Amino acid sequence: MKNQNDYFLSQEEYQELKTFILNNFGFNIGSYLRVGDEVGKLLLKHQILRFNNYFALCLKPENNKMLSELVSSLSNHYTFFNRESYQLRFLLMEGFANLLKDKSHLDFLSIGCSTGEESYSLALAYQNYCFKNNQIASYEIQGIDIADFVLEQAIKGLYRSETLRYLPSEDIQKYFIKRDTLFEINSEIKSKCLFNNIDFHYFESNKKYDIILCRNVLLYYNVNTVQIFVNKLINLLNIGGYLMFGGAEMIPVDEKKLKYVTQAVFQKVEK
Ligand SMILES: C[S@@+](CC[C@H](N)C(=O)[O-])C[C@H]1O[C@@H](n2cnc3c(N)ncnc32)[C@H](O)[C@@H]1O
Repeated sequence: MKNQNDYFLSQEEYQELKTFILNNFGFNIGSYLRVGDEVGKLLLKHQILRFNNYFALCLKPENNKMLSELVSSLSNHYTFFNRESYQLRFLLMEGFANLLKDKSHLDFLSIGCSTGEESYSLALAYQNYCFKNNQIASYEIQGIDIADFVLEQAIKGLYRSETLRYLPSEDIQKYFIKRDTLFEINSEIKSKCLFNNIDFHYFESNKKYDIILCRNVLLYYNVNTVQIFVNKLINLLNIGGYLMFGGAEMIPVDEKKLKYVTQAVFQKVEK
């Protein structure tokens, strides 16, 4: 039985993979060392010695699951509860109230939802807002991602305490059930959060959304892809709806369509 170090990705293969991912998926993969590590795990899993043999298999149309496994292993999936918490504070202080002026049901979309913390954090904030304001919390959150293994975890809704570190203890008590050393999100919240494997490149929807989170996803993509994504995001938003990026992302937006509200938060303006 071979171990991970017996498998090998050459510099040339790394360059080939880098160009392929950039041209076909529009994002930059990490350093040679990090990619070598990820590729090594996949070669070991599939018991294939050489990267070029593995890559040739990935490119066969009947093996598109293998290709998406490779692409998702090269993406970054890091997330935690209440990330970019100033954005949730904005929603609690004025965003939700604005959205609820003329409707009682809200639709949310989380793009690059990873293991689900982002969707569930929004759900908790909205539930808390509705509870405080004596309103019925009618909403649905659609989370999409390209990686099956993160989505499986999102659906389970079972978390280690470190990812809950920025949640107030009242929220943990109210919305989670303790399972040994882990914490499971309760079934009421789970029932409002849907998770699907969809690449945003191919995402289509008949409905429009009141809040779209696309945070810490676009920073890996090239300028052209970002522009395509932003136009698509605007079309998916209701007028008056909010679009949120990650705080560290500098995303160019059309100011005639999106009004800057606060850190990495934009509102779709009437046209
Ligand atoms: C760094 S995580 C960010 C998670 C979460 N949005 C946050 O800010 O904490 C980026 C996620 O975006 C996903 N992703 C990347 N490109 C995507 C695409 N085209 N469509 C859907 N998800 C994508 C990755 O698989 C990864 O799980």
